[in-house]
Amino acid sequence: MEYKNLLVEKKGSLATVTVSRPKALNALNTEVIAELYDVWRNLESDTNIGVVIITGDGEKSFVAGADIGELNKLDSLEGIKLAERGQGLYWKIENSDIISIAAINGFALGGGCELAMACDIRIASKNVKIGQPEVNLGIIPGYGGTQRLARLVGKGMAKLLILTGDMIDAEEALRIGLVDKITEPAELLSEAEKLAGKILSRGPKAVISAKRCINFAANSDLDTGLRYEIIEFGAICATDDSKEGTSAFMEKRKPNFKGA
Ligand code: CAA
Repeated sequence: MEYKNLLVEKKGSLATVTVSRPKALNALNTEVIAELYDVWRNLESDTNIGVVIITGDGEKSFVAGADIGELNKLDSLEGIKLAERGQGLYWKIENSDIISIAAINGFALGGGCELAMACDIRIASKNVKIGQPEVNLGIIPGYGGTQRLARLVGKGMAKLLILTGDMIDAEEALRIGLVDKITEPAELLSEAEKLAGKILSRGPKAVISAKRCINFAANSDLDTGLRYEIIEFGAICATDDSKEGTSAFMEKRKPNFKGA
């Protein structure tokens, strides 16, 4: 598939996907969502890819939300379908064995904030304005915002942001835990790549297993989550990489992980 709204670059085990629809501040219309589905499917079938950075084209915007022109025309059934498509994509990203890093470079609003929240780690440049402004449009978040924001920053802060529709800056987003790190705008991509490189240097199976366990924490009670961690721990102990990593420590050398 040729992408009209995405730039895709691969460097070894790292892929960078840039949403590029500059005339609408990279807002996600139906076509962009379909392209993101396709690119994600392709990246998942490429067993060499371990980490994906998702960012927006230009300095002004990561993703300014769902396309408001499209939202304006929806009836109830079409609204359900649109939300299902967006949520389906974000669910795939969140639950993928690929590690996703959102490199947030400007406006991350509505569906843009929701996309960043579906990623595993969020790095924001200092010029970020982030939030869920849907109530300003007489609608509510539809790509998971009410659920993921409450889980990330707590129910009270999620209500403050969603019920006012206010945008916050990078410092405030860091303070409340909506983003994990902030950088100078010029350093955003290199910081994201540095982080990706670090994750890629670790035991690949261990990284995936740890991600699965942490995702489980958000969706289960403590006892079920702890049991799940025990099962994953048992599975990871049987991998070649666990023998390599522990042997390398004892032999005072760097591990040579094979992803097996
Ligand atoms: N959808 C469609 N077009 C958009 C857009 C969006 N979400 N956001 C910006 N654009 C377009 C603007 O219409 C404008 O197009 P024209 O040049 O053709 O007029 C262009 O992008 C540039 O935008 P502005 O002129 O508005 O730029 P600005 O710097 O003055 O303001 C902004 C920037 C504050 C981000 C403002 O564009 C804005 O408020 N955008 C809407 C943000 C928003 O409400 N997002 C949530 C969408 S709903 C949603 O996402 C629901 C969901 O959960 C699925």
